[in-house]
Amino acid sequence: MTKLEQLYEGKAKKVFKTDDENLYIVDYKDDATAFNGEKKGTIAGKGVINNIMSNHMFQLLEKQGVPTHFVEQLSERETVVKKVSIVPLEVIIRNISAGSFAKRYGVNEGIVFEQPTIEFSYKNDDLGDPLINDYHAMALKLATADEIETIKKMAFKVNEVMKAYFDTLNVTLVDFKLEFGKTTDGTIILADEISPDTCRLWDKDTGEKLDKDRFRRDLGNVEEAYQEILRRLTGK
Ligand code: TMP
Repeated sequence: MTKLEQLYEGKAKKVFKTDDENLYIVDYKDDATAFNGEKKGTIAGKGVINNIMSNHMFQLLEKQGVPTHFVEQLSERETVVKKVSIVPLEVIIRNISAGSFAKRYGVNEGIVFEQPTIEFSYKNDDLGDPLINDYHAMALKLATADEIETIKKMAFKVNEVMKAYFDTLNVTLVDFKLEFGKTTDGTIILADEISPDTCRLWDKDTGEKLDKDRFRRDLGNVEEAYQEILRRLTGK
């Protein structure tokens, strides 16, 4: 496998072509942004942790029957993934009120929902990733009705697997964001990353935030929180 030219650079990762037309290499950066890139910084070691954690989660999900883009970890920061075209929807599952949900509806953080919620944002930085519903997503041809149904089912399944797993690590899975991709044959699989950048993770006993909210809200001990999550996941 040879790493060829860079295809794309996002806020947290770079994507490279390879000599296999069906495979890409992702390279995780320490760069951190929030509020659609308005706040910028670095979290030392984040790229390494997010790479290891994402691969750990993708392998767990694969075992539970969720297809993902994961192929093979190459190095601390690099992973081989299946080539997909990303469905331009950010899929957000919530078990507990927090973040934009609490703000939008004027409620406290920490309300435990009787059943998880799902919402979509249109993945478009120029527009600030606006909230979008199924009908608007279909009208804009971002996904078909069948694809949206598949994505919803997979997202709730991911939630069940991840919630149960984090519970064993004494971590509450509050909410998270997923992205899905379409392979060349049109199959929908889980893509992007699963990391403290894309999940809210609270210590079950103390409620301490162990995720990117420490950076977003200037809570301090950002690196330590990422390391603590990695330690609970891998024992390292
Ligand atoms: P929100 O409460 O700000 O809408 O965030 C919900 C979840 O989605 C939270 O776990 C953080 C994650 N998220 C991302 O991964 N990327 C983003 O750009 C945003 C806004 C949130």
